[in-house]
Amino acid sequence: SVRASSSYADELVKTAKTVASPERGILAMDESNATCGKRLASIGLENTEASRQAYRTLLVTVPGLGQYISGAILFEETLYQSTTDGRKIVDVLVEQNIVPGIKVDKGLVPLAGSNNESWCQGLDGLASRSASYYQQGARFAKWRTVISIPNGPSELAVKEAAWGLARYAAISQDNGLVPIVEPEILLDGDHGIDRTFEVAKKVWAGVFFYLSQNNVLFEGILLKPSMVTPGAEAKDRATPEQVADYTLRLLHQRIPPAVPGIMFLSGGLSEVEATLNLNAMNQAPNPWHVSFSYARALQNTCLKKWGGRPENVKEVQEALLVRAKANSLAQLGKYTG
Ligand code: 13P
Repeated sequence: SVRASSSYADELVKTAKTVASPERGILAMDESNATCGKRLASIGLENTEASRQAYRTLLVTVPGLGQYISGAILFEETLYQSTTDGRKIVDVLVEQNIVPGIKVDKGLVPLAGSNNESWCQGLDGLASRSASYYQQGARFAKWRTVISIPNGPSELAVKEAAWGLARYAAISQDNGLVPIVEPEILLDGDHGIDRTFEVAKKVWAGVFFYLSQNNVLFEGILLKPSMVTPGAEAKDRATPEQVADYTLRLLHQRIPPAVPGIMFLSGGLSEVEATLNLNAMNQAPNPWHVSFSYARALQNTCLKKWGGRPENVKEVQEALLVRAKANSLAQLGKYTG
């Protein structure tokens, strides 16, 4: 393919393998300034650059984090930011043996002509932004688009999501960044797990159809799917074993084994649920590295414990390490609670 002969092909494959390495997963800390503002408000803090810097400094400086975390996704502000004691955050990550990544999408907006669904912006200027991010030290990228089950999903929304992800993936690979392909199927709704499974199958069929059309090198991408679960408001709940069974069945039916890593999002699952589900998926060998790329399921406890107080930093850092280690064990299928 076009991209297989691109000058970055070997590096892309290597980067993807490093991020998808045993016992490790991704720390998603790429909340946009707006989302970060919501998280800070939940602990009574103002959304200032200084607060965001203090919080992100404490995350990346956790001693020993690189044992469990292979990659960290940053928002653009953080990619160019220093820690509170003046070291470049990117350098701190590299010292920790953690690959820096960057959220490159520009967020969701209403999809005209659909049933109140959304699409993801950010393709304009993406090639030159990606080249700058590479210069700045990023080696992988993330693009998150969403699919709503209660609002459809319409064929239009699925096609738009899949096409946007594929264009983004091709542009990222052209500029040396391993694309994380993330069509998040939102938890919202009272539908059962079978409905989620059926929608996820359609979404991934579309995504891989367009990835191939865009000559994307499968060995140089990472996926960030939602786990297959019942809707958040569904009466019938699923056990971790059921979630694992449905999710692995979906992956086997839709994801080529050439893809090196499946890094699940937590999507509003509790910290413990996210760990238990991942652990259940790793009870037998899989064709891909099956791991995590959690934001809330790694950070919820940390945020609460922090509360903006410097005297809490040590305790917060220990809390992050506890979650990271639990998910590292789950990646190996060895988490026991
Ligand atoms: P959650 O794990 O909180 O869903 O966030 C992951 C993420 O990066 C969403 O894009």
